[in-house]
Amino acid sequence: MKGMNMAPAGGRLGVLLPGMGAVASTFIAGVELMKKGIGDPIGSLSQMQTMRLGRRNEKRSPLIRDCVPLARPDDLVFGGWDLYPDSVYAAALKAAVLPPETLRPVSASLDAIRPMAPVWDRSYLRNLAPRHAPKKAKNKWEAACLVQEDIRAFQRKSGAKRCVMIWCGSTERLPAPGSAHRSLRAFERGLKSDAPEISPSMVYAYAAISMGIPYANGAPNVSADIPALVELSREAGAPIAGKDFKTGQTLMKTTVAPMIKARMLGLSGWYSINILGNRDGEVLDDAGSFKTKEKSKMSVLDGILDSKLYPRLYGRYHHKVRIDYYPPRGDAKEGWDNIDITGWLGMPMQIKINFLCRDSILAAPIVLDLALFLDLAKRAGMSGIQEWLSFYFKSPQCRQDLNPEHDLFIQHWKLKNALRLMIGELPLDHAGLDYDDVKTNGRAPARRPASFWPRNPR
Ligand SMILES: NC(=O)c1ccc[n+]([C@@H]2O[C@H](COP(=O)([O-])OP(=O)(O)OC[C@H]3O[C@@H](n4cnc5c(N)ncnc54)[C@H](O)[C@@H]3O)[C@@H](O)[C@H]2O)c1
Repeated sequence: MKGMNMAPAGGRLGVLLPGMGAVASTFIAGVELMKKGIGDPIGSLSQMQTMRLGRRNEKRSPLIRDCVPLARPDDLVFGGWDLYPDSVYAAALKAAVLPPETLRPVSASLDAIRPMAPVWDRSYLRNLAPRHAPKKAKNKWEAACLVQEDIRAFQRKSGAKRCVMIWCGSTERLPAPGSAHRSLRAFERGLKSDAPEISPSMVYAYAAISMGIPYANGAPNVSADIPALVELSREAGAPIAGKDFKTGQTLMKTTVAPMIKARMLGLSGWYSINILGNRDGEVLDDAGSFKTKEKSKMSVLDGILDSKLYPRLYGRYHHKVRIDYYPPRGDAKEGWDNIDITGWLGMPMQIKINFLCRDSILAAPIVLDLALFLDLAKRAGMSGIQEWLSFYFKSPQCRQDLNPEHDLFIQHWKLKNALRLMIGELPLDHAGLDYDDVKTNGRAPARRPASFWPRNPR
């Protein structure tokens, strides 16, 4: 099988980060430590996971980074924007995700990364006030042009041959759907007329995508998930993905809910509560930003359980999600889930989950994988929504006429099969019917689509 034609991964890859707070600084610190051979990139599929190729008896399971032509973490360079003028070192110390002694070996390289002046609109983020003078632009169009100038200057200075942009900024409130979202032409008119429905994250996204730079959104705000920017991503040849990094409680939800459904257990209620005390928690203390997050967190159960297909099991469950800002915890989030399920003859049972996680520790490897996979997609000539990257998101962006896939295991399978196809390997279906010792009266093998199954079993 022939793989996709791909440009080589040589040269520096610039990772552009609007928002250089806890997640971004933890990610950059981790990569800079890796460059010095310190620490393991735990949580990163691109660096630590193997991928089975071919049939089980072939025993080919190389690391993904050894069989997929990804950029090397050593080649990553970083730039970004923030509402605070702190260097990445100062931001990392403030976020206190990693202890100062862990950061010390890379303090100089982190201190050299200073955020550029941000695009700012108070109506989208009420709980933070910028301490870094925002861009002075006549309108949003000019702001996007200034972001593009920043990107070009960053490329000159850092020597980055290619770039990807990943929004690690705070959660913006949801804008009311407006005409500027509907098409690219309307969006560009809206940039020039300062349309209120265009948020700062959309301005960054427009700037990057129109330069052909891949864009991912790690927060739940709409950002590139509007028809106008999807259209632009196809036109400009930029892969895009989003929204909202899947860490913490939603990671648990999208592993437990598939089990409940696979075993055809019923669900009568799911109560989720989190406490967290980082700046993200402070932002989510605002009703507008919380609403954006709540929408993203709520959608996963409906997506997995499909109450239309199973009204008796999932037609009437009560789902409640709460996030409480609790400063003493900092980034060390704690989540509780109480799940009321039903079994044989409707008998009630309960599942309790208490997850003591570290938000940014779970998010940092996602940023690394997204940077490398989006760059891969770009070099393979792919553009538009990259649904195969749903694995990393709470609210996966997909075509508007489709339902997003939330089940972590299906998402994982999708991701690896997409990688297999890109490098010219057969996707796996795990059915196992092509093994000679499975008796099928000769029927199943004959029905196998030639493009999918190996021509020469065993
Ligand atoms: N930490 C996680 O595990 C996790 C999981 C899922 C989603 N997220 C999302 O990722 C984002 C980052 O999380 P975090 O914990 O790093 O938050 P954070 O508050 O530490 O960092 C966000 C940074 O974005 C900056 N910012 C806001 N608006 C900006 C703009 N217009 N231009 C430039 N910078 C801007 C803020 O100044 C802040 O420093 C949040 O939206 C969060 O909801 C985080």
